[in-house]
Amino acid sequence: MDYRSFLSVLLLVMAGLSCTSADSSMSVTTSVYGHLPSGEEVILAALRTSGGAEANIITYGATVVSLTMPDREGVLGDVVLGHDSLAGYLNANPYFGSIVGRYGNRIANGQFNLDDSTYALAKNNGPNHLHGGIKGFDKANWVLAGTIEERGRVGIQLRYVSEDGEEGYPGELTVDVTYVLTEDHALSVDYAATTTKATPVNLTQHSYFNLAGGGDILSHEVTLAAGHFTPVDSTLIPTGEIRSVTGTPFDFRRAVAIGARIDEDNRQLAFGNGYDHNFVLDQAHPGDTLQAATVYDPQSGRIMDVFTTEPGVQFYTGNFLDGSIVGKGGQSYGRNSGFCLETQHFPDSPNQPSFPLTILRPGEMYATRTVFAFRTAAETR
Ligand code: GLA
Repeated sequence: MDYRSFLSVLLLVMAGLSCTSADSSMSVTTSVYGHLPSGEEVILAALRTSGGAEANIITYGATVVSLTMPDREGVLGDVVLGHDSLAGYLNANPYFGSIVGRYGNRIANGQFNLDDSTYALAKNNGPNHLHGGIKGFDKANWVLAGTIEERGRVGIQLRYVSEDGEEGYPGELTVDVTYVLTEDHALSVDYAATTTKATPVNLTQHSYFNLAGGGDILSHEVTLAAGHFTPVDSTLIPTGEIRSVTGTPFDFRRAVAIGARIDEDNRQLAFGNGYDHNFVLDQAHPGDTLQAATVYDPQSGRIMDVFTTEPGVQFYTGNFLDGSIVGKGGQSYGRNSGFCLETQHFPDSPNQPSFPLTILRPGEMYATRTVFAFRTAAETR
């Protein structure tokens, strides 16, 4: 072998090594989390990073059951609401940590027209359809399709095949969700889907965050890159208006504590019993990645940045939690004990021709990405 060939072989070997050699302190381990009433196993995947941050994800609902991040002193704490065991998720679960679909958020009157047909969906939220229906993707046991262990990142791939006609939706939809946790504390969620018939699709991640790890979230400061929001009627269906946030309690373009204006006398806040609204992100072009939100908890120093390719985000401040759900460590979750930033297309889009399209057709690929990235104030302020 001459010198040049030797060098190229050496470079190839080195490239191979740097791609495949996983950092031994980063790992994915799987175990049985529990069993469904049918006897089916629910698998838990533990994603561990070198810095100690950890994400525990179960196949039931593709649910993030815990997400452990350091505070400003480096002390690790769980920043998501949830339960200590599968029984909790099966019994009392307002979508804690789960992937929501086939259509996240509401469809008015559980009905939409598509290509000259009218489709009827379950009305599981007053007169409306919510979060995919009675058995949405949050209640499906996803298949653990693969694990990722690479330098600086660990992850899993989860797959769910939603049957043609499931919950009233047309077409067999094959959905892949890939969660990756990086050593610099970012949890990314990649969604991909294909269908056999035209169907609405709107997938989101429904984690309830509490960056303090307990108590309420009213002192968390929120910034949203949204100059507009979609006002709703009393059943939380958008009226179709795209309203400016200027001069309203919906203006989060500069950091404001969640609790600062949540109880103001405002018709929109009254409809939601707090914030439960879709914000229209200031995206220059459809599909561009935007830093949609930053949330800072002054108590712990934790900061979460949310990046997304989606045009909207449902900012929900846990208004329906009333203390009746007892979750991790016996905590009862009261109003505002967590907040959600559900990156998404706008609610009720199948019935709102002026909203960005949510119809996926055969031959097309649904692909969106959201990243929840964590840091602490000590690093930046
Ligand atoms: C979403 C909805 C809320 C509520 C929660 C779950 O955020 O917008 O109205 O249904 O899910 O309780």
